[in-house]
Amino acid sequence: MQVLVTGGAGYIGSHTVVELLQAGHSVVVVDNLCNGSEVALQRIEKITGQSVRFIRADIRDRQAMDGVFSRHDIETVIHFAGLKAVGESVSRPLDYYENNFYGTLVLCQAMEAAGVRRLVFSSSATVYGEEAPVPYVETMPRGTTSNPYGTSKAMVEKLLEDLVSANARWSVVLLRYFNPIGAHPSGWLGECPQGIPNNLMPFIAQVAVGRRERLSIFGDDYPTADGTCERDYLHVVDLALGHLKALPAVLEPGVSIYNLGTGQGVSVLAMVNSFMRVTGVDVPYLITSRRAGDLPAFWADAGKARRKLGWTAERGLDDMLMDTWRWQCKNPYGYR
Ligand code: NAD
Ligand code: UFG
Repeated sequence: MQVLVTGGAGYIGSHTVVELLQAGHSVVVVDNLCNGSEVALQRIEKITGQSVRFIRADIRDRQAMDGVFSRHDIETVIHFAGLKAVGESVSRPLDYYENNFYGTLVLCQAMEAAGVRRLVFSSSATVYGEEAPVPYVETMPRGTTSNPYGTSKAMVEKLLEDLVSANARWSVVLLRYFNPIGAHPSGWLGECPQGIPNNLMPFIAQVAVGRRERLSIFGDDYPTADGTCERDYLHVVDLALGHLKALPAVLEPGVSIYNLGTGQGVSVLAMVNSFMRVTGVDVPYLITSRRAGDLPAFWADAGKARRKLGWTAERGLDDMLMDTWRWQCKNPYGYR
């Protein structure tokens, strides 16, 4: 299948491009490189031995997107491109609605004009909202999101549902990711946050490699077993493989929704202790106050993806941590 991957030079996109190429699909990447790297694309070529067709373009640029669809015979779009930092979205809501919502709108307009109506969208567990009981099941309604990032994802989901209702020739798969971590086992691809990492795993890795003094654990007074927040961490390669498993689903008309997670919550403290055990490297930490907007604990009901797509997250926590560490050691400053 010829697949257009938007955001293919980013963290999850680059891992997915590897799996697509290795499975024999043909790939075109569109990325504006605002948070991705051309080095990631070179590394994909190194891993797969195949060349990557790359177009540096912004999904908000209708003319550029029309050009992509007219020059390439695209059958399906996997849409990763967007902004993803929760805290930043609170201070820059316009950028988040413009990139994530308007960007998807323009992409869909270009797809409609080109007659390409199959889309796999990177959604997030955050759309279940602040009050949803755990585990999160796909049949639950979207809830109240607590930041513009989450709201932009919920808005895109609704936009895509409305599009499918209006035109039965569209088919859309909404993949709700939980917490992807880890890196390609080769050590050549991984997460490359700009500035101070917002997320737990890259922060732990940067402390371990000596780039930061210590980790702050945001609160140990949550109603969880050890008082720290619990999340459903999954290996980015498993997540990438989830997209491959979702490709047949996008051949069926309508909207389908799948959680991509392991179904298990792991606490922040357990993550830090496991990292130290697996790597043998010390990670100094300090318990600090809670981070605004954090939920105590959430994880996926991963049953639907298993039953309908035949997908389960197979890589365990030790693999996620070891692969993160290999990537961090080989690339202490990421792709830079
Ligand atoms: P990332 O920032 O590494 O990758 C996103 C890529 O999109 C980057 O390469 C960036 O340059 C590109 N991009 C951004 N805006 C663009 C635009 N307007 N036009 C063209 N390219 C653009 O992020 P990621 O972690 O790989 O996330 C991929 C997708 O998955 C995002 O939509 C994100 O919201 C979603 N998601 C991520 C997580 C997570 O924890 N990483 C969790 C849930 C959902
Ligand atoms: N944490 C720390 N210290 C840090 C960073 C994080 O203690 O320096 C804690 C957080 O308080 C939280 C846990 O580690 O309890 C996980 O935090 P992350 O920032 O890694 O992940 P979140 O669950 O907050 O959010 C992530 C993505 C969102 C996405 C969500 C669900 O950042 O985009 O997962 O998929 F919506």
